[in-house]
Amino acid sequence: MFIPICGVAFVLCFWVVLCDTSQYGRVMVPLGHRQELEHAPLSFSGSWKVLGPFQIGTREATWGADPLEYVGGFRALQYDPDALFRSSLPTNGMARWNTTQATQTSTSPTYANASLSISYSNVDWDFLKVVYGWAAVQYQAWARGELTVRGNSTQSVILSTDAILEFWVDEAHYFGGDFFTFRKAPAVLHLNPGTHKIDIRLVRDVRAFGGILPPTIDVVVHAERATSILELAMPGILMSDVVDGKLAAPVGSVMLRNSGENDIKIMGIEPSDVRHPISLPELDSQEILAQGSRVLTAAQRNESSSSENDLGIVIAAGQTRPVAFDISLPTRNVSSVEYVLTYKTADGNDLSSLHVWQNLTKTSIYEPHKITYLHPGGMASYAMLRPPARNATCGSGQKPSLPVLFGLHGAGLEADNGMVAHALDSVPDLCAWVMFPTGVTPWSGDDWHNWGFADVEAAVNSIPNWINQVDWKGPGVNVNRWIVSGHSNGGQGTWYALTHRPDKILAAAPLSGYASIQKYVPYELWQPADPRRTAVISASLNSYRHEMLMPNARGIPVQQQHGEMDDNVPAYNSRLLAQQLFLSGTDSSYNEVPGQNHWWDTVMTTPELVDFYYTQTKSNETIPRKLDEFELVVGDPGDMGSKGGIKVLLLEDPGQYGRVHAKGHTITTSNVLSLEFDPIIFQSQVLSIDDSSVILGHGLRKREHTGSVTFSKSEGKWSPGPLATAEAGIPYRQGRQLGSMTAILRTQGPFVIRHKGSNITSHLALQVSRNLHQYFQADAHIASSTSWDGTTGGTGNVITLAMGEALAPSIHPDFPIQASSTGITVRDSKGAQHHYNSDDTSLGAAFLRPLEDERLELVLWGSDADGLSQAARLVPMVTGVGQPDFVLLGEKAKWEGVDGALALGSFDYEWKVTPSSVVS
Ligand SMILES: *[C@@H]1O[C@H](CO)[C@@H](O)[C@H](O)[C@H]1NC(C)=O
Ligand SMILES: *[C@@H]1O[C@H](CO)[C@@H](O)[C@H](O)[C@H]1NC(C)=O
Ligand SMILES: *[C@@H]1O[C@H](CO)[C@@H](O)[C@H](O)[C@H]1NC(C)=O
Ligand SMILES: *[C@@H]1O[C@H](CO)[C@@H](O)[C@H](O)[C@H]1NC(C)=O
Ligand SMILES: *[C@@H]1O[C@H](CO)[C@@H](O)[C@H](O)[C@H]1NC(C)=O
Ligand SMILES: *[C@@H]1O[C@H](CO)[C@@H](O)[C@H](O)[C@H]1NC(C)=O
Ligand SMILES: *[C@@H]1O[C@H](CO)[C@@H](O)[C@H](O)[C@H]1NC(C)=O
Repeated sequence: MFIPICGVAFVLCFWVVLCDTSQYGRVMVPLGHRQELEHAPLSFSGSWKVLGPFQIGTREATWGADPLEYVGGFRALQYDPDALFRSSLPTNGMARWNTTQATQTSTSPTYANASLSISYSNVDWDFLKVVYGWAAVQYQAWARGELTVRGNSTQSVILSTDAILEFWVDEAHYFGGDFFTFRKAPAVLHLNPGTHKIDIRLVRDVRAFGGILPPTIDVVVHAERATSILELAMPGILMSDVVDGKLAAPVGSVMLRNSGENDIKIMGIEPSDVRHPISLPELDSQEILAQGSRVLTAAQRNESSSSENDLGIVIAAGQTRPVAFDISLPTRNVSSVEYVLTYKTADGNDLSSLHVWQNLTKTSIYEPHKITYLHPGGMASYAMLRPPARNATCGSGQKPSLPVLFGLHGAGLEADNGMVAHALDSVPDLCAWVMFPTGVTPWSGDDWHNWGFADVEAAVNSIPNWINQVDWKGPGVNVNRWIVSGHSNGGQGTWYALTHRPDKILAAAPLSGYASIQKYVPYELWQPADPRRTAVISASLNSYRHEMLMPNARGIPVQQQHGEMDDNVPAYNSRLLAQQLFLSGTDSSYNEVPGQNHWWDTVMTTPELVDFYYTQTKSNETIPRKLDEFELVVGDPGDMGSKGGIKVLLLEDPGQYGRVHAKGHTITTSNVLSLEFDPIIFQSQVLSIDDSSVILGHGLRKREHTGSVTFSKSEGKWSPGPLATAEAGIPYRQGRQLGSMTAILRTQGPFVIRHKGSNITSHLALQVSRNLHQYFQADAHIASSTSWDGTTGGTGNVITLAMGEALAPSIHPDFPIQASSTGITVRDSKGAQHHYNSDDTSLGAAFLRPLEDERLELVLWGSDADGLSQAARLVPMVTGVGQPDFVLLGEKAKWEGVDGALALGSFDYEWKVTPSSVVS
């Protein structure tokens, strides 16, 4: 096992990559011996100029917080070994330039790359760690090198930026990069022959780089020549395994990158063996799509029919998109499938094609195997599924409905990795459907939260389709009866499931998990800020602070486990949650394993866990549980399921936890505006809610499907029905719209990124799309048009980029934030208007607005290019940043971070700015 070699195991695959660096030696070109490179088309410099170190807080870089911006930005500085820069970290409080050699550079006729390992000997890291903990070994710096392009013509270059969040190529700025080394959505550059300046912002993150190793920053830049205008961004087809001769699921997907300079339309995808000759313009693409049996998925069809003159799926120049399609096996026995994509450039008529092959993985239906399905975001995802064993003896009924046992993976791992998918092989005959979801990416999207957990739910809800598809005759499934377990980031995900879906959880086993990002790597060393602002940021992360949510676990059997010597996720996290469970009147069985670190071979199958799995999968307890007394704590109703049959629909102040206490028929609430009751749990009873007497009985309007009943609080009194807004015609915020800015991730269907087509907005629209795909594997349609009219149709959430102009009106008749060509106006909770003028400063704003059908729009507005590019940094990407519902940034945010925000806060249920917001 490679883990002990690496020392740190949390980011399993990441360390595999790091540990594997020795193998780069084989392709490494010794520095100073580069004759053979003279004719290479691309090469990186071996020598780099570095400037740092400066402090940075956990996940703070999204906010700017770069002290060099105070002096005009690193890009404006020239190397000067005598220049001194004030910095809080090094000896004498001074940072300076340094030069460093790339640890490896290599080059070939098709690619060039360079690895950098930056360290600082003039900082007393050990002492800083004593005082500030792991926060101290997160710091920032900049590095400058060169990429040389040879030959006589412009080269199309695919640039991967491993472990890098932000960089510049010549005068072009890129925020997003590839912090976790996914290599899903690299930047596409078209570079003229000559030397190009590469400036890289280096940001150290303990969760990605480790806390106990020497605090180096290790990054890689890899430039590859594009081979054609349409390329596969990932090899092969994402598709399910073949089990006992049948395809386990009919969803396939390819990742496509447009490496050219014009938009591309995908016209069709068909199996190569049944392909009919297609020629345009006799057929329009709708016919082509309809003609093949392999057509694009519903979500994508919706999108294409909703946007004007789209024939097929459009991939903008430089964009990477996942394209899902129906896939099936030919009747004859084959070992691989081949599909042909037809496409044309947006301005041309010639059809081109791209062939894609995939070898089939054939396995027994009883083995853990890959199943595919659609994520609510409209793209394909996968999970590993192990159905109940043939010899498992389960239940007495004719056809028992068995629970689902989840194994949530740690950061940096794919679910199809054997360490994940075969972790429960030693318990083969559990009475459960065993599922290892991905959460879409190796970092489970957003740490199994909003995007990642939607993937878990899509995966489990696809089991009934699987049963049909493979004609399964074994035990059935109860998709609402879960046993959740997971390791490391997956242990944290288990806490998330436990605290956010309590009515579905039969039992939970969180292993070596952390309580919250803040408890994992402290938020010390952010730039100083008014505590009111810090509180707004912190409140945006309320839903993910599990140490606050332990009352939600009441009544649920919990088996905790943590290695006593864990130097990656400290056992403190599990001990803290065990204690918090106890203090909230419930209890867990806590097993701290002596002498063990973060990972060991049988971490998922210790005797205590094996016993727990067998006992809990056989449990006949009724779910949801009826509890005599319990408390429900809610950070974000948009993320939150019910407990004991009660669901919180709305909070009064979304920046504060809401609480419901239920004892028998007496309910008391705090900061809650609207509740939903499941009458199956609360049968026709008289309830007292905060001294209002209500009847849960006949004659009340019940919600379709669930039959649940809503009560709301108005002027201190609870009465049946949803909350009416004070003024008719004002849409109120509900369901998927609730939460902080990350609510935008609850899209149904691909995102729509709309802008008016200037160079600046095109570059940023592409950046937003690249980041959504890099970090979430999300799909986005970039809609560029000269007018805003009709561009918010479709099913997906919308991201609007606007520069120096008024916005299209909101569906809300009196939205509190208005932008114009001269600035932006925010109406505070007392009705006072605050105008921020852009005459002599650049302003950037990012805020949510409502759309129909619980959809959302995220507006990115800038008074100029600079302001818009600052606003675009705030689009949700990595976790822990804490973007509230609205943020207005001034130029100072570039170095001051959060304290440089001019206004920030949240909207209440009427889309009014809340009193807890900061508007000044
Ligand atoms: C450079 O790229 C080659 C080819 O992809 C790869 O084998 C090698 O490991 C890379 N080196 C670094 C330092 O990333
Ligand atoms: C300058 O860079 C070298 C090489 O990377 C490194 O060993 C040294 O510690 C750096 N200097 C300082 C003051 O950190
Ligand atoms: C580039 O141009 C020079 C001068 O016009 C010519 O001699 C050379 O062969 C060209 N190189 C390539 C690779 O086309
Ligand atoms: C697919 O299978 C063939 C035949 O077994 C093998 O030669 C080829 O390398 C495989 N391709 C991939 C991408 O695994
Ligand atoms: C089912 O079969 C597996 C392996 O074939 C075996 O390890 C297990 O003990 C069996 N379980 C039962 C209940 O027979
Ligand atoms: C559940 O199982 C227990 C013990 O196996 C048994 O006593 C009890 O009657 C069962 N309850 C139901 C509802 O089947
Ligand atoms: C937009 O980009 C094109 C191509 O790079 C360039 O020719 C043009 O001048 C740019 N326009 C503006 C307004 O910057």
